[in-house]
Amino acid sequence: MSQPWISPLEVDPERMRAMAARVSELVTAHLASLRDQPARQTLSRPDAKRLVGSLAPTAPEQGIGFDAAIDELVERVLPYHAREPHPRFLGYVPSIPTFPAVLGDWLATGYNFFAGVWPIASGPNEIELTVLDWFRQWLGMPNEAGGLLTSGGSTATLMAVVAARHARVGEDGGVLPRLTLYTSTQAHSAVARAAWIAGISREHVRVLPTDDQWRLRAETVADAVAADRAKGLVPFLVVASAGTTNTGAVDDLSAIADLCERESLWLHVDAAYGAFAALTSGGPDLLRGIERAHSVVLDPHKWLFVPFECGCLLARDPATLKSAFHIFPEYLKDVAPGEAEVNFADYGEQLTRYARALKVWLSVRTLGLAPIRAMIERGIALAEYAESLVRREPTLEVLAPAALGICCFRVHPVGVEDAAELDALNERVNAAVNASGRFLISSTRVNGLFSLRVCTHNWRTSEADIDELMGLVGDAGRGLRDAGGQSTAY
Ligand SMILES: Cc1ncc(COP(=O)(O)O)c(C=O)c1O
Repeated sequence: MSQPWISPLEVDPERMRAMAARVSELVTAHLASLRDQPARQTLSRPDAKRLVGSLAPTAPEQGIGFDAAIDELVERVLPYHAREPHPRFLGYVPSIPTFPAVLGDWLATGYNFFAGVWPIASGPNEIELTVLDWFRQWLGMPNEAGGLLTSGGSTATLMAVVAARHARVGEDGGVLPRLTLYTSTQAHSAVARAAWIAGISREHVRVLPTDDQWRLRAETVADAVAADRAKGLVPFLVVASAGTTNTGAVDDLSAIADLCERESLWLHVDAAYGAFAALTSGGPDLLRGIERAHSVVLDPHKWLFVPFECGCLLARDPATLKSAFHIFPEYLKDVAPGEAEVNFADYGEQLTRYARALKVWLSVRTLGLAPIRAMIERGIALAEYAESLVRREPTLEVLAPAALGICCFRVHPVGVEDAAELDALNERVNAAVNASGRFLISSTRVNGLFSLRVCTHNWRTSEADIDELMGLVGDAGRGLRDAGGQSTAY
């Protein structure tokens, strides 16, 4: 009798368990010791090439075995990154996954569900529908609203722009060169890029000014729309922000929704992280109007504490997505969805997609919303705490008050008023704080001024971390000013 076939790629169960245990030990030890690690370690490209690239410049014909390969990763690769879940990572819009969410991702990849069409993964697909419905409920969108999870906010934004374009253009390609989109100077760059990819002429992406609190006002959009219509252009889409990346501003959503209704424009709201504020006590008021949007982007990999990659596009009428993306080749006839079933491939750009909903569901189902909500509230409060420390220190200045867990500020020594000097000083402070490895913060410009910026969404961050950061910023400001040969009168 012939031996049963065993592929050389197969691993026996005992060995699988040992391999999984090795990875499990690495990840848990990493997460448990985050506070004792630097917030970031990095390599220059030449160093990375020497250390990492040199390991396997061409794919090896013979492998070195799992343990040896993991050893290489441990020594040469894993240390060199910014530790996003680190308590002193306060840059950009961080992703701080819960542990159940991490394991949800492992389940999704371990089982390798194909979540593109209904019959191939009905269980995981029902989980995605469930999660999408949670989001819909949180935002107060109509019962029929739906959509899909995406790789991130940029992809979801692109899908929204394409759907809005399709809704306006249909088969009439002639109007395409005149389509015009409205957003603000504070909108995320994903919006302009989505417009470019969607074939909207770059000159027809209107980047409008905001009010003094970085919010896009409906009147500003109305004026721009009227001016463009008079020129024969075809306004079709307004992209408002609910939580800007720079300052946490929320646009005038209700008034913009009114305008979009009056003018028959698609309203898309970028609430990539801000949407999750809907779970907090102040959220519903702050976000009022979002429920009227034609489409909304929200990224669980931001403020819902799941790992990359997990964005989401919700549409008030999911048929608008299907109309833009549905295509049905012969070779997919076997997986046509039944009544009330959903092929997610019909709602976005991906056919083969993994079951990213599992990580969201497992995290929320394991922990419940209460601690997640509390950690979002805490993120908001920590930025307010950071602002209070800045206000207390005469050599620091608030540039944008705390909003949705973001605070912008700078070093401003008493008596120094030269804008270029202040910018240069703060650039050096930013570099020095980051070079310390203790913290990772990021910078931006607020009203044209170079600004330090903290985003306190990290549920591992303590008040003591914020105290330490402000001390470090103050010291760096003083030290760098001294080093620059300036007076230290402040
Ligand atoms: C407000 C906002 N919109 C969109 C994006 C883009 O999302 P992603 O990086 O997931 O593509 C970001 C990223 O930080 C963001 O802050």
